[in-house]
Amino acid sequence: MTARAPAKVNVHLGVGPLRADGFHELETVFLAVSLFDTVTVRRAEGLSLSVRGEGTGSSGGPASVPTDQRNLVWQAAELLARHAGVAADAHLTVDKSIPAAAGLAGGSADAAATLVALDALWGTRATRGDLAALAAVLGSDVPFSLLGGVALGTGRGERLTPVLARRRWDWVLGIAGEGLSTPTVYGELDAQRAAGTLPDGGLMAATGPVLAALHSGPASALAAALHNDLQAPALRLRPELDRAMRVATEAGARAALVSGSGPTVAALAEDEDGAVRLADELAGAGVFRTVRAVHGPVHGARLVG
Ligand code: C5P
Repeated sequence: MTARAPAKVNVHLGVGPLRADGFHELETVFLAVSLFDTVTVRRAEGLSLSVRGEGTGSSGGPASVPTDQRNLVWQAAELLARHAGVAADAHLTVDKSIPAAAGLAGGSADAAATLVALDALWGTRATRGDLAALAAVLGSDVPFSLLGGVALGTGRGERLTPVLARRRWDWVLGIAGEGLSTPTVYGELDAQRAAGTLPDGGLMAATGPVLAALHSGPASALAAALHNDLQAPALRLRPELDRAMRVATEAGARAALVSGSGPTVAALAEDEDGAVRLADELAGAGVFRTVRAVHGPVHGARLVG
């Protein structure tokens, strides 16, 4: 059984105050984009895992993806087995195209694909609601990786309301340098807020403009409405991202923003041709390790074989 799940870009990421449980209250708008990881599962005794592709050392990038219980797919398998009362017997193979620790929810995509693939392999017949509840236990972004499309996320990002988007959006993702740790970026935001160098999280930016722009365009409206509270702390931790974003807009992007906690730069293109041209320019600019033209919305985790 094979399932695949998409990367995401947060076209709006409003971060509220730090909660007692260590998470921040969010208001975010997720967009699933056409960069997919796949997870293939087969019957085996006990759990085992192999990971290939981006971030595994064989790709030229850092070997940052673990192949044991630290990997979210392992945790997803154990959680589903416990929920369904079955033995966690399977070999999992993760084929990564989504770079790790890039702000694209690659690990969350892998976990969502694992839930879908193992549900089919084990015949556990979990409902989408069951899978969404398990996904929320695994991580804040995993429910969206399961759902896909466009959605408004609240709570710590796990409470989702699907949103209608009537048109396709073309982007170029530029992955710059080493991965960034999500908790480190949130921690930097808290530090800057405490120091008064960034406004506190009491008043989050409104999601209305970005939702209206996503629904009916034009690209200039979406470009004007993009917002990410994690961008300033990501730039503080990676000053070279500032130049990367400038390079993207000078190369013809409608706008550029840091994706999630970074360090990926998401550059909005006018249309598909514009994205191909922009990807060519950015690949030649020498500031990004990997450049990918993608579009969204696309579907969430689903079986492909
Ligand atoms: O939920 P997930 O495991 O992806 O979160 C990783 C880390 O990101 C959390 O441990 C926390 O430090 C930070 N986070 C946060 N607020 C959120 C989501 C994540 O502070 N809403």
